[in-house]
Amino acid sequence: MKNLSRRQLLKFGAIGGAGLALAACTPPPAAAPAAPAAPAATAASGAAAAPAASAGGKLEIFSWWTVGGEVEGLNAMFDVYKAKYPGVEIINAALSGGAGQGGNMKALLETRMLGGEPPDSFQVHLGQELTASHVVAGRMEDLSDLYQSEGWNTVFPKGIIELASYQGKPYSVPVNIHRSNVLWYNKTQMADVGVDKAPATWDDWFVYADKLKAKGIAALAVAGADPNFSAHVFENILVATIGPENYLGLFNGKTKWDDPAVKTAMETLLRAHTYAQPDYTSVAWGEINEVLSSGKASTMVMGDWTHGALKSMKFTDYHWAPSPGTSGVFVALSDSFGLPKGVKNRDNVVNWLKVCGSREGQDAFNPLKGSIPARSDPDLTKYDDYLKETIEAFKTNTIVGSIQHGAAAKQSFVNDYDAVINTLVSGKDVAASMTQLVEAANAAEFGA
Ligand code: GAL
Repeated sequence: MKNLSRRQLLKFGAIGGAGLALAACTPPPAAAPAAPAAPAATAASGAAAAPAASAGGKLEIFSWWTVGGEVEGLNAMFDVYKAKYPGVEIINAALSGGAGQGGNMKALLETRMLGGEPPDSFQVHLGQELTASHVVAGRMEDLSDLYQSEGWNTVFPKGIIELASYQGKPYSVPVNIHRSNVLWYNKTQMADVGVDKAPATWDDWFVYADKLKAKGIAALAVAGADPNFSAHVFENILVATIGPENYLGLFNGKTKWDDPAVKTAMETLLRAHTYAQPDYTSVAWGEINEVLSSGKASTMVMGDWTHGALKSMKFTDYHWAPSPGTSGVFVALSDSFGLPKGVKNRDNVVNWLKVCGSREGQDAFNPLKGSIPARSDPDLTKYDDYLKETIEAFKTNTIVGSIQHGAAAKQSFVNDYDAVINTLVSGKDVAASMTQLVEAANAAEFGA
């Protein structure tokens, strides 16, 4: 593994009370040789053991991936698994309508984990969503041996391994890195209003939005039926307004949550909402991609699963830019899978995790999902222009963690944060929302 570079600092977010700042490795050059295939058949003893390739039985995989792009990506990883372990029946437990990045799925997962009925393996964001919700409570197996035997300690960036770890031991296997702060826009509509480049700041975006409005086009796609959607937009306005260093400070106690920039970000969100498509309050997160592709709204601030979804819809009239005010900043999150204690099909899960962490698995999944691989040795020929650009951005940008997607703060804060932003967009009372957000941050004891 190469050493840390200050310029490429990865501070994915301070980790709650631990206040851990994370730094990424400069990934090694792309297109390193493929990792050797997992060895077959030895006796199982610990997570490092390789169960028989002829394994049978079941494997239940729990996720909220039900939208175009994510479905194909997951199926592609299943295909890699099935080719190696054809005797195993995979049960895809994804529910439709998972209410955007988790929703009822996270609640269902919690119920099963607490009830001693864990799924064999489940999608979880690296960072606080993994550690605070599942690891600290002692519900996940330590994967140190598997990291060792699969060579992951050298192939995943150090900052990513730290995000997967608690007290120095890894508990989950990252399959990807997503970027939260992307502005997706309709190319033809942009050209029609005489704009030739994506707005770099929110001021520019409002000028652009007014031009669209003059032509009767809504500027911002909003899925108002899911409170988490606007909370996602808000985190990116917040980064733009307060800057990446101060944003990180919000989670380690160095920046106060009543900072005037937080209030300005709330005002910007409300102003941007006045440009939403007319039916936005009834649109669910899973329906938002059609709003963009149908031209009902012209831009959207969303993570790069949008790329996977739009490609899956065969929509091509779009392009992307960092969300306004965030050029040079990468708001990151990482999906991962782990091994809950007491699962029914443990050997099958160990093999699943090997696929998740393998070059073959990641290069099958990510080009469809719209994310970049967590591994630093992808076969770049499999990645399109957006993804190649994003692989580069991850190496050079300042990295901060997403609130909404579990990297920066524990789930209890995310829930409170979502509730505050939801109340903000419906009630439009900035002062009240500021008070509530400060209370939520106090309860989360950032930096304590
Ligand atoms: C994120 C998740 C992505 C994608 C997205 C869709 O939280 O990390 O993989 O599922 O939600 O809403």
